[in-house]
Amino acid sequence: MYVIKVPLGVRSYSISIGDSLLARLGPECKRLYLGQRCAVITDRNVAPRYAGTVVESLQASGFEPARITVPAGETAKSLKVVASCYDQLAEHRMERKSFVVALGGGVVGDVAGFVAATYLRGVDFVQVPTTLLAQVDSSVGGKVGVNLKAGKNLVGAFYQPRFVLCDLDTLETLPVREYRAGLAEIVKYGIIHDVELFRRLEQVMPKMLQRDPDTLSSVVARCCQIKAGVVGKDETESGLRAILNFSHTLGHALEAISGYGKFLHGEAIAIGQVFAARLSAELLGFPQRDVERIAGLFEKAGLPTHIKLSPAQREKLFEAMHHDKKVSDGIVKFVLVNKIGQVSFGQPVPLDLVEKVLTGPPVQTTSPEQAAGANAAHSALRSQHSAF
Ligand SMILES: NC(=O)c1ccc[n+]([C@@H]2O[C@H](COP(=O)([O-])OP(=O)(O)OC[C@H]3O[C@@H](n4cnc5c(N)ncnc54)[C@H](O)[C@@H]3O)[C@@H](O)[C@H]2O)c1
Ligand SMILES: [Zn+2]
Repeated sequence: MYVIKVPLGVRSYSISIGDSLLARLGPECKRLYLGQRCAVITDRNVAPRYAGTVVESLQASGFEPARITVPAGETAKSLKVVASCYDQLAEHRMERKSFVVALGGGVVGDVAGFVAATYLRGVDFVQVPTTLLAQVDSSVGGKVGVNLKAGKNLVGAFYQPRFVLCDLDTLETLPVREYRAGLAEIVKYGIIHDVELFRRLEQVMPKMLQRDPDTLSSVVARCCQIKAGVVGKDETESGLRAILNFSHTLGHALEAISGYGKFLHGEAIAIGQVFAARLSAELLGFPQRDVERIAGLFEKAGLPTHIKLSPAQREKLFEAMHHDKKVSDGIVKFVLVNKIGQVSFGQPVPLDLVEKVLTGPPVQTTSPEQAAGANAAHSALRSQHSAF
């Protein structure tokens, strides 16, 4: 088992990563002297698979858990679902000392975390992430919140969990497309902070795709360590934390214009990362062969690296960036790559260059094996791309 510390003074906490950890939730909560009454917030896909083990573990350690099940998917990140959770917490007579367990992917983590941050002005909460994306990213760092009609994550808080429990066994039931989407955030950590991780992923991507437990646990632990380090230095994103948004300017805009759910977040940011690497080649002299390595690694992971947009779709994309307050005076701020393992945030990029790179041909990767993988991945995704 790996244990990673998130260093935030009195709000410091640890992330445990390993196999068969769900059954240890009760003892862990006891070790932290959490209150007796609690609520396990989960979704309709995760509940039948894992809520039983979690509830039993809590009961065996003397806790009194209620179970709250929200719908699966992004639509559950709403104030309506939050209000329904509040009602159920009240029914269960939750008190200031009670706590919330978020059992599920990033959606459940964000909703349950927001509920915990606001119910009775804040109760303790514990993250038990069950998707790869949630294990390496959303469960760590304390960003919680929900969407409004006007946009994603517009209501929220910084609210740190008391601890994070990543049971890698839960990934066995994660659908392959969701799993691959998590790999996009993993590659991101290599690009923004750790060239060794990037090189390692180039070697072990087939094992990652097989969900090999040893490879997976060490890679997940490394990603959590990187995120913990960044969050420890800049909890509320006044500077450095912005590097975690690498590729998200384009990624979020793509998600917005294609209708949320068409692209998984990880798919959109895989395209965004290759795009940011190409901008970096134009502006910072980032080597073309490293742009190809990045595209090649996503192809190996079965993720898309490029999108062809019609002029009307490009127009919409720029609008989405404006809406996201990413554009002013014809300039968009991006996180760009100096070299693999090192990025700079807040880099101004003229919209004309964004347009030029967007309309350019896809990056050609060299290895025939990668090209074959890419073709398979692209044909699998083509139907989604052309659908909007
Ligand atoms: N708070 C943050 O810092 C942060 C960071 C990144 C992303 N996010 C948010 O995370 C959300 C995306 O999270 P996600 O990708 O985990 O999506 P998700 O929570 O929607 O989960 C994906 C799908 O997998 C199902 N699922 C979850 N675990 C499973 C398992 N073990 N077996 C089978 N099915 C399982 C879910 O029911 C869902 O249908 C977005 O809303 C995004 O905004 C937040
Ligand atoms: Zn992301």
